Amino acid sequence: MDVEIAAATGSAGGTAAAPGTALPYTPSAPRPARGANGNGRVDFPRGFLWGAATAAYQVEGAAHLDGREDSIWDVFARVPGAVLNQEDGEVACDQYHRYPADVALMKELGIKAYRFSTSWARIQPGGREFNAAGLDYYDRLVDELLAADILPWLTLYHWDLPQGIEEDGGWPSRDTAHRFRDYAVATHERLGDRVGVWTTLNEPWCAAFLGYTGGQHAPGRQSREDGLAAAHHLMLGHGLTIQALRERAPEANLGITLNFEVEDPLNPDDPADVEAARKLDGAFNRIFADPVLRGAYPEDVLADVEPYGLAERIHDGDLEIISTPIDTLGVNYYHGNGVAAVPAASPLAGNAPLSRATSSPFPGADGAHVHPRGLPVTGQNWEVQPEGLTRLLLRLQEDYTGPRGIALYVTENGCAYDDAPDADGYVADHDRIEFIDGHLRAIKDAIDEGADVRGYFGWSLLDNYEWAWGYGKRFGLVRVDYETQERVVKASGRWYGQVATGGSVPELPAR
Ligand code: FCB
Repeated sequence: MDVEIAAATGSAGGTAAAPGTALPYTPSAPRPARGANGNGRVDFPRGFLWGAATAAYQVEGAAHLDGREDSIWDVFARVPGAVLNQEDGEVACDQYHRYPADVALMKELGIKAYRFSTSWARIQPGGREFNAAGLDYYDRLVDELLAADILPWLTLYHWDLPQGIEEDGGWPSRDTAHRFRDYAVATHERLGDRVGVWTTLNEPWCAAFLGYTGGQHAPGRQSREDGLAAAHHLMLGHGLTIQALRERAPEANLGITLNFEVEDPLNPDDPADVEAARKLDGAFNRIFADPVLRGAYPEDVLADVEPYGLAERIHDGDLEIISTPIDTLGVNYYHGNGVAAVPAASPLAGNAPLSRATSSPFPGADGAHVHPRGLPVTGQNWEVQPEGLTRLLLRLQEDYTGPRGIALYVTENGCAYDDAPDADGYVADHDRIEFIDGHLRAIKDAIDEGADVRGYFGWSLLDNYEWAWGYGKRFGLVRVDYETQERVVKASGRWYGQVATGGSVPELPAR
């Protein structure tokens, strides 16, 4: 293998961080849209890891094959109005069968690491006994990646909880944290000899709050209490798993991926806007970052959610478990927000247009409203804000990861645009090149200012099942024709392959 990722020096096997101190919200000023690495060719540090990401339910298909049973997403996709056009992941990109070709394509492009997730519902159908045939699939995938000299970067939970465990209470039930640890150990038992990088959770914010409070994602519950309980138990499951895997494989690189937004007050001189941004920052960023990385919930967040029972869920010793030292923090960044205390006259419609009623996913951020800021937007109406990533990485480095010797990897970043394929399915997606180019330059700005960022994973290798949006939103570096399953590398995929091969971002190509 060319690519070796070792456990970080500072944290592996170190002493628990808790009890710690959480941090308050401190606003930072937006930077210019393009920073110091704004125009010409930008060389990344040697060894910087260039990857691409997907997730099991979004690409695998084979949803009821070889023993796999329903996950919460299979069930949710059947709820009328839950997913655009009632689409599901039954077939998706059929990677379950086409993984050899997908791995070969990554190799051809020069991609050095593949971030994929294992499906809990495939490995432990119904939450009952472990399914050897399900584990066999990941065995084959990992072997294929290693043979192609591509680093397998494994995530244990990208949202496909076995439906049987949801029926036993799901993430709001404390027991699910222990069941997650057991599933992780069984998966490690099979793959730990060949997989060295283990991520516990992808974006627990989405799993907890879109899933159990807002209802935009599976299982679609709409309860503030359940969302907060789910968040706590997801983090507990993370900590229990880190402890178990550390014991099994002290040399493994262990981590978690959190999603972050940079919350800026719309008017920094208006205390009401600053307060609104504080609430969103707490409810989105610090509610996970502080327990996991600093061993404590932020006081202001606990106060914001006081009526909804979080405090009663926190048992003695939980924060020590949750803050068990990790090696890597995965950072998913798509955009930031301008936040005000009053609603926007015409807010950006960033959610799938669905008839089914949903709720706010923020249990403690009533009165915080996101406003459009006149920035360019993607095909999903997400603002394009690369400079926010520089600020985010520097904040994480300084307040969370740097002091603990934890490495940062950007584990997701990308964009959906309304791709227009030509007759051969080729997409000249300059918008996407520009998006990724801008974010890579923003990462380099952060590295130059001291952030220990060691890799980047484009979201996504392939067009795939974009949750409540169904197949309508395409994030791929590679186009997928869902009728034929044909893959056609987009202009952005070729461009990214060159970046990955050479380790540098060229001058932005002309349109
Ligand atoms: C993230 C998810 C990923 C994908 C992107 C667009 O929140 O982790 O599965 O849907 O958004």
